Amino acid sequence: MDKLVIRGGKRISGTIAASGSKNSALPIIAATLLAPDGIFEINRIPDLQDVRTFSQLLVYLGAEISFDDNLLRISTANLKSIEAPYELVKKMRASIYVLGPLLSRYGHTRVSLPGGCAFGPRPVDLHIMVMEKLGAEITIEKGFIDARVKGGRLRGTRIDFPISSVGATGNALMAAVTAEGTTILGNAAIEPEIECLCNFLQKMGANISGIGTTTLVIEGVDKLQAVSFDNIFDRIEAGTLLCAAAITKGEITVTGVVPAQLDSVLKAFAEAGCQVTTGADYVSLVAPDRLRATDITARPYPCFPTDMQAQWMALMTQAHGVSNIIDKIYHERFNHIPELNRLGAHIEIRDNQAIVHGPRTLTGTKVMSTDLRASACLVLAGLVADETTEVLRIYHLDRGYEKIEKKLTSLGADITRDKYQEFS
Ligand code: EPZ
Repeated sequence: MDKLVIRGGKRISGTIAASGSKNSALPIIAATLLAPDGIFEINRIPDLQDVRTFSQLLVYLGAEISFDDNLLRISTANLKSIEAPYELVKKMRASIYVLGPLLSRYGHTRVSLPGGCAFGPRPVDLHIMVMEKLGAEITIEKGFIDARVKGGRLRGTRIDFPISSVGATGNALMAAVTAEGTTILGNAAIEPEIECLCNFLQKMGANISGIGTTTLVIEGVDKLQAVSFDNIFDRIEAGTLLCAAAITKGEITVTGVVPAQLDSVLKAFAEAGCQVTTGADYVSLVAPDRLRATDITARPYPCFPTDMQAQWMALMTQAHGVSNIIDKIYHERFNHIPELNRLGAHIEIRDNQAIVHGPRTLTGTKVMSTDLRASACLVLAGLVADETTEVLRIYHLDRGYEKIEKKLTSLGADITRDKYQEFS
């Protein structure tokens, strides 16, 4: 198993390019199932575990894939299965994204229920609701979603989401673009990754209006074609790198990102005392000597993203004062707290609210990753902790970050990747 060994106290300084976005890459890869003819060429696909897992799933279904230097080439002409197996879906919840495209293309699919993850049950009831509204018959048996379209083709309708859901919005889009008639999605997610998916589908020949708003109108078309496309940059990776500079009293410029996509995070950095400047495709941050405690509440876009909550908590252990952190999307997304406290932080949980007392001197020790963003949080804490921090089970980190330790090392961090054994 891999661990990262971080010798803390080094200042992060310099310029780095963000990678392509993981959370737009995954639905885009799923959407290639909608066009049987031609070869897709998708640029700026990050080379990280979730993309490799999703590609494994597509290959299992019969797609032909090549991936080199962040260019993904896919043909889904010769699919041979309509089933997404438990072994792959369990590894990555986003596999549920094949539900809409397979149902749309074949009128029948079987997708394993994804199960939960470290910070909650992660239900898929909204994905199922969407498909039923579009005319599918769903049965849940032996841990699988078995979906069949009565009459062969999904039929457009109005769907109002009771809560904002990135995944269910993505699945609804991919089911509706070739459904018969008009589909209207109310309270649709407006995360940049969904906007990117809409643009990708539009380029494939879909007819979507309201892109970037919470009401999407989709006119079903008969056929979509393979295209070439540039994925967007990863705003969460960029925010994580900005945190690395802020927590080490350093300075950084992250290129590629669209600052507007990080607006709520940049406002929080400014409130914490960081000097933030932006351009068309970069964000620069200079850390203050004295960080100010800053409350955040994670909510759907454009509010502060839940995927930056753990990273912000690490930063607030170094801020002067008490910071209150609430996650309105995943109330229990706090598995990183016990590990931060083992490093010397002083964080309490009261009524689903984390109360971070700072600043605290952190002292390196072994800490355990529990999920993707929790592992990023522990790496950030290790950068500022005295002595050496060993972040274990970094397969969590590798799911969602492309060469993050290389990027941080190029900016001045002292990080090495080593192997270790766990007690059985
Ligand atoms: C996406 O997950 C992201 N993953 C998550 O990022 C991110 O945390 C999340 O959106 C919220 O922004 C990908 O894009 C691959 P949701 P998703 O449906 O689509 C509830 C990371 O770190 N819900 O927007 O699964 C759900 O429990 C990952 O990169 C239902 O109740 O999230 C949550 O409370 C972690 N029923 C809320 O909606 C459903 O059917 C928002 O979830 C679906 C969701």
